Amino acid sequence: MSDSKHEVSQTENGAPIKRSKKRACINHCKRFWWLHLIIFCCITVLVVCLVIFVGVPNIGQSKVNAAKLEIQGVNVLESKPDSYLMQINSTIETDGTVHADIDPFEGKMYLDDVENAPAFATLQFPATNADKHQTVNISQPVKVDDLAAFKQFNIAFFQQQNLTVKISGKTKIQPAGLSRKYDVDFTKYQTINGLNLLKGTKVTNAKVNLTALTGENFKGIAEITNPSHFTLDLGNVTFANFAAERNVGNLTINNLLLVPGLNRVNISASLNQTGVLSALNLKPACETGVVPFKLLGLDVQNNGQQIPYFLAALSSANQTVDINIAEILGLTVPACH
Ligand SMILES: *[C@@H]1O[C@H](CO)[C@@H](O)[C@H](O)[C@H]1NC(C)=O
Ligand SMILES: *[C@@H]1O[C@H](CO)[C@@H](O)[C@H](O)[C@H]1NC(C)=O
Ligand SMILES: *[C@@H]1O[C@H](CO)[C@@H](O)[C@H](O)[C@H]1NC(C)=O
Ligand SMILES: *[C@@H]1O[C@H](CO)[C@@H](O)[C@H](O)[C@H]1NC(C)=O
Ligand SMILES: *[C@@H]1O[C@H](CO)[C@@H](O)[C@H](O)[C@H]1NC(C)=O
Ligand SMILES: *[C@@H]1O[C@H](CO)[C@@H](O)[C@H](O)[C@H]1NC(C)=O
Ligand SMILES: *[C@@H]1O[C@H](CO)[C@@H](O)[C@H](O)[C@H]1NC(C)=O
Ligand SMILES: *[C@@H]1O[C@H](CO)[C@@H](O)[C@H](O)[C@H]1NC(C)=O
Ligand SMILES: *[C@@H]1O[C@H](CO)[C@@H](O)[C@H](O)[C@H]1NC(C)=O
Repeated sequence: MSDSKHEVSQTENGAPIKRSKKRACINHCKRFWWLHLIIFCCITVLVVCLVIFVGVPNIGQSKVNAAKLEIQGVNVLESKPDSYLMQINSTIETDGTVHADIDPFEGKMYLDDVENAPAFATLQFPATNADKHQTVNISQPVKVDDLAAFKQFNIAFFQQQNLTVKISGKTKIQPAGLSRKYDVDFTKYQTINGLNLLKGTKVTNAKVNLTALTGENFKGIAEITNPSHFTLDLGNVTFANFAAERNVGNLTINNLLLVPGLNRVNISASLNQTGVLSALNLKPACETGVVPFKLLGLDVQNNGQQIPYFLAALSSANQTVDINIAEILGLTVPACH
């Protein structure tokens, strides 16, 4: 109520003043038209400057932000204790409305699921443009600068069903037709499939040498499904083998190059047969004949050198592999005592 009253009184008092103000303004404009022209020109220059120095970088940044990065494949090859060859096949999609060149830049990769995780790898990204569809394939040796961070990434990659990686760097964009380059941040988040503890690994074609109580006495083919887009050059991998919570010996896979999808690889083991048979006597193994083995990484050797980041991953958690021991030994089940 009091507010509207106040407004009314303002208009009553303001009306005559407004009219004389208007007249004064017209006179002023007639006399000082040149001043208005100068002000208009200044404003135009300011707007143009704002567009070029604020607007264009913002448009450049928003185009970089909107670009979609898709990763088709990652290879980690020639693994050595402190380096590896990294290859990435990827594509970048944009709406294609702005033509621009983007400088090559150094991008760092972070495990985004862990707060403030340090970068685990540094890659050189090539020059690109803002075209609608482009292929970005990278192949370069990478030095392990931060082993702890790279171990942390490998452990997450081995254990988790999926994980999010942040790729980040600073680069420059040059829109077509402009001579200036503008700073932009390139930051992308990519959720990738992890190895999910290689669940579902099966052993087929198993052969046991019952008379060999020590040394290699078990051979077979492991069928390992790699649910990720990564190819990993692991080398010779040795696992400790547990049956019914007891260490029953080592299992080895030589020259393991884990590719996406199904891998069929030879395995060999030296197993404590007494230990395996006593695990077979326990329920439910004696009902089904299947012994659930747990595998824990003990050693990863590639060309005579231990690979600490892969070993950290494979020794961080047990993988479970069910093996039908009764079938291998030709025993009838159930055989519970
Ligand atoms: C990239 O694609 C090429 C050609 O299809 C293929 O040979 C290479 O293994 C791929 N690399 C990765 C990292 O997926
Ligand atoms: C880049 O990777 C794609 C697969 O993502 C492949 O088709 C293409 O052949 C590769 N190009 C080169 C030059 O390796
Ligand atoms: C990621 O993994 C979690 C379980 O760890 C699962 O609940 C979720 O659905 C997965 N997300 C995707 C996109 O696969
Ligand atoms: C089983 O092991 C024994 C003792 O090591 C060996 O003499 C024998 O040749 C092996 N049998 C087979 C089929 O490998
Ligand atoms: C199992 O492998 C580890 C590491 O290679 C080795 O130290 C150990 O002696 C092996 N154990 C058996 C019983 O072969
Ligand atoms: C796997 O083992 C079989 C039989 O021992 C052998 O013929 C074959 O060459 C082996 N494969 C590899 C990749 O080592
Ligand atoms: C094999 O396992 C049995 C019981 O599981 C144990 O008594 C024996 O000492 C083990 N043998 C070796 C060589 O570790
Ligand atoms: C794996 O071990 C075998 C036998 O010791 C060796 O000949 C081979 O070079 C090793 N492979 C790798 C990748 O180190
Ligand atoms: C793996 O399983 C064995 C046997 O159950 C257990 O002693 C060991 O602590 C487990 N290791 C990890 C890292 O979970």
